[in-house]
Amino acid sequence: MLKRLGKPTPQETPQPNTPPAASPPAASPPAANAPVQPVAAAAAPSPKKSAAVPSTGLPPLSPATQEKAASAPTVEVETEAQTRRKMLELSLSIVDRIQASLGAQSELKPSPETDKMLQERFSHFYRQANVTLSNENVELLFKMVKDELMGFGPMQQLLDNPEISEVMVNGPNQIYIEQKGKVRLSDVTFASDEHVLKIIDRIIRPLGRRVDRKWPMVDARLPDGSRVNAIIPPCAIDGPTITIRKFSKNKLTYKDLIKFGSMTEEMAEFLRACVESKLNIVVAGGTGSGKTTLLNVLSNFIPDGDRIVTIEDSAELQLAKPHVVRLEAKPADIDGSGRVSIRDLVINSLRMRPERIVIGECRGGETLDMLQAMNTGHDGSLTTLHANTPRDAVARMETMAMMSGMDLPLDVIRAQIASAVDLIVQQTRLEDGQRKISSITEVQGMEGNTVVLQEIFKLEIKGKTSEGKLIAELKPTGVRPKFTTKLEAHGHKLPPSIFGFDVGRPRR
Ligand SMILES: Nc1ncnc2c1ncn2[C@@H]1O[C@H](COP(=O)(O)OP(=O)(O)OP(=O)(O)O)[C@@H](O)[C@H]1O
Ligand SMILES: [Mg+2]
Repeated sequence: MLKRLGKPTPQETPQPNTPPAASPPAASPPAANAPVQPVAAAAAPSPKKSAAVPSTGLPPLSPATQEKAASAPTVEVETEAQTRRKMLELSLSIVDRIQASLGAQSELKPSPETDKMLQERFSHFYRQANVTLSNENVELLFKMVKDELMGFGPMQQLLDNPEISEVMVNGPNQIYIEQKGKVRLSDVTFASDEHVLKIIDRIIRPLGRRVDRKWPMVDARLPDGSRVNAIIPPCAIDGPTITIRKFSKNKLTYKDLIKFGSMTEEMAEFLRACVESKLNIVVAGGTGSGKTTLLNVLSNFIPDGDRIVTIEDSAELQLAKPHVVRLEAKPADIDGSGRVSIRDLVINSLRMRPERIVIGECRGGETLDMLQAMNTGHDGSLTTLHANTPRDAVARMETMAMMSGMDLPLDVIRAQIASAVDLIVQQTRLEDGQRKISSITEVQGMEGNTVVLQEIFKLEIKGKTSEGKLIAELKPTGVRPKFTTKLEAHGHKLPPSIFGFDVGRPRR
């Protein structure tokens, strides 16, 4: 059984630099030498009610066996969740004690000396806890203590796992993760709301940001660049909530996207020609569908000589380009002043002699500024927006342009969209977790009051494998875009086969 330690007293505190007799846990945990009992089984017998048992279809037990079974002490088997909970509580007790023993110097910097000091103090307090854990669990406990003192608590193990791309904490008892494209509930929990709040504070304090009941939401970044949003009560009804999009150290390239089946070689060749030919491109997609990743891939098609200005809410783009100026929006200061929006940055960027403007995501009035920039000589601009189909993307641009407060009539906005945007690339996260380009659509112009769209590449769902994976085919529609002459003017004479033509005939 694990027990929670009481409040630390000064007598229990080991003196700094006087290592306790215990040896470091990772090498040889103090209690691990004692007979090992798995924490999952509590030895205390507990009375069990005999309920009417449904028939199992097995032969009945002999009377002697039944008697023996009845007289045997019942072992209540702890569930894995209970064990994890107890480990968490024990780790927090030890953390309290180590922190009390550190006094004023509780800011720990990772170093071999810190590691050694923590191992010694951990061993001391672990011994006082008077619990019996397996070697493996002692090591796990030490890791939990270390993560709590120097990392991001229970979330750290998820952040350390390279297979996990997203961590979503919905209050202390529910942490969802995205692993290999699939979202699932993890078995990690926090101890309480306060525990989650403590970790939020650890994330935002070094950035000089604050979150409280008055302004209960904050955007931040982890030291490795991962994007974080936190929102706490009263706005987050079920407890403090953290959403982390993990920063992938190796951003996906177009070769990865081809390898994953997210696009074909032909699509990549076509998109490269479009970017090099300075077409204005909008990447549309749902939340987490891969918009930013695709924007990054497209931006890396920009020729090396071009001066690129990137504008983002939270810098995620990684351009392997020589001439890039990166701009990031700024939240308001504590007194509510000093906010610099994406829109302010778009307007400012026009004075920076940009050859390419790459806007991380259009969410509001900046859409109109972007359209105007695209229409006034800043060709070759790229952005993303939230929409589920190319048609929806046009409607979204209309709505967002209206949010600019310029009071332009809808048909004027529509005409601006039709002449500014050349291509909409739709990115989709399919129900089985695969992320793919589901449509590449040309914006051809206006017909009457309607923006004319023509699909050039599309995704066809063919069926499902026995494991539930969708079988999908990316293919050209057989239509050549109207802007082909523009591509040719930039030296891109794409073979007709890219568009699904074999010797002048559309491919079926
Ligand atoms: N084609 C792809 N195949 C596999 N994984 C991908 C693909 N595109 C993106 N991802 C992964 O999906 C996650 C979300 O990607 P990304 O940040 O680009 O999405 P997003 O649409 O910009 O999200 P948000 O709406 O939150 O801004 C990342 O972990 C990224 O590495
Ligand atoms: Mg994004």
